[in-house]
Amino acid sequence: QMALQREFQHFMLKEIYEQPESIGRGVAQYVASLGSSAPSFHALPEANCFEEIQILACGTSLHAALVGQFVLEQVAQIPTRVRSASEFLAAPLPVTRQTLLIVVSQSGETADVLAAMRLANQQSSSGLAGFKVFAITNNSHSAIAQQADYERSVGAGVENSVAATKTFTAQLVLFYGLALAWGRQRDRIPDEQWVTWQSRMAALPSQVDQVLQQDDSIAAIARSLKHTNHIILLGTGINYPIALEGALKLKETTYTHAEGYAAGEFLHGSIALLDHTIPTIALCPTPPFRSDPSLENPPSEGGDQMLKVTQRIRRNGSDVIAIGGSEAAIALPLCDQLLSPFLTVIPLQLLAYHLAIARNIEVDRPRNITKSLNSF
Ligand code: G6P
Repeated sequence: QMALQREFQHFMLKEIYEQPESIGRGVAQYVASLGSSAPSFHALPEANCFEEIQILACGTSLHAALVGQFVLEQVAQIPTRVRSASEFLAAPLPVTRQTLLIVVSQSGETADVLAAMRLANQQSSSGLAGFKVFAITNNSHSAIAQQADYERSVGAGVENSVAATKTFTAQLVLFYGLALAWGRQRDRIPDEQWVTWQSRMAALPSQVDQVLQQDDSIAAIARSLKHTNHIILLGTGINYPIALEGALKLKETTYTHAEGYAAGEFLHGSIALLDHTIPTIALCPTPPFRSDPSLENPPSEGGDQMLKVTQRIRRNGSDVIAIGGSEAAIALPLCDQLLSPFLTVIPLQLLAYHLAIARNIEVDRPRNITKSLNSF
């Protein structure tokens, strides 16, 4: 509450700070009301109408789709594939009458996503009566929302900054809502787990707020990176897409060469890059061996793996900036691994913002990019 009364110099910072509110709104709309007659899920396909999901998106929306894939697979146990819309154009995935195609686009106007929808529809017009397209946007009046069989808005409100922040976490909320709704329909989520899910998601706004309160120390870390040219970001499991998203935020707003990797995979060759000039940001949301297994399916080994990888990196002489975990530079409230993306992404957004400011970059309007790529 305090946070929203602040004055903000830039839309990006304002929109980062709006997240406790926008996440809370999304949870109320798409999770808390998710009973048998939840209005938010009326007229959406039921879980027994499809056997697999394909998700197409670009940029930040693609990273939300990758988190979505994780919960759809691990929680609802629905086979899910994700592809960049432009790569789908190059190599379309075979669609069947049991495919639900989900397209994700903040603006609802991205040209590659529209073209991919057209291509998928052409493929399915040869007799795939059950094939349906479901659009997730932040604008129900957009072309993508209008052309889909089903659509839902993530309801984040207008986002002005070119770099997406609050719409990313709003997309996540909707994916969790879908995974929970379809997981319930498929009997994958027993009643007691369902109650836990609801209360943990209801706690997210105050947990995000706790992360925002570390803004000053995150800004100090950003200033220490002012002359850094390369940054590595590592995450595992559901936080691998957050490493990708953090790297994209840093590239978009600070022009730093930043790359996200799956932590274990980074050891297979790419670690040769490291020296003392290249810091590593490690997403370690749960302290090793203290992860709460109650929502996990299967139990996560992620914390353990992150600890091994960060120890190895420190031995190689590179600085590790840990987000969460026992050696955290930026502490996170204790939370379940499956919900941790909502918390791990916040320091990365703030880091990108403050580093842009430290470098005098016009953070809301970075060079070479536009809010949505609706023509070339
Ligand atoms: C552009 C923007 C990205 C954005 C992507 C997808 O390339 O620069 O920040 O993530 O489009 O936009 P969309 O509106 O489809 O989510």
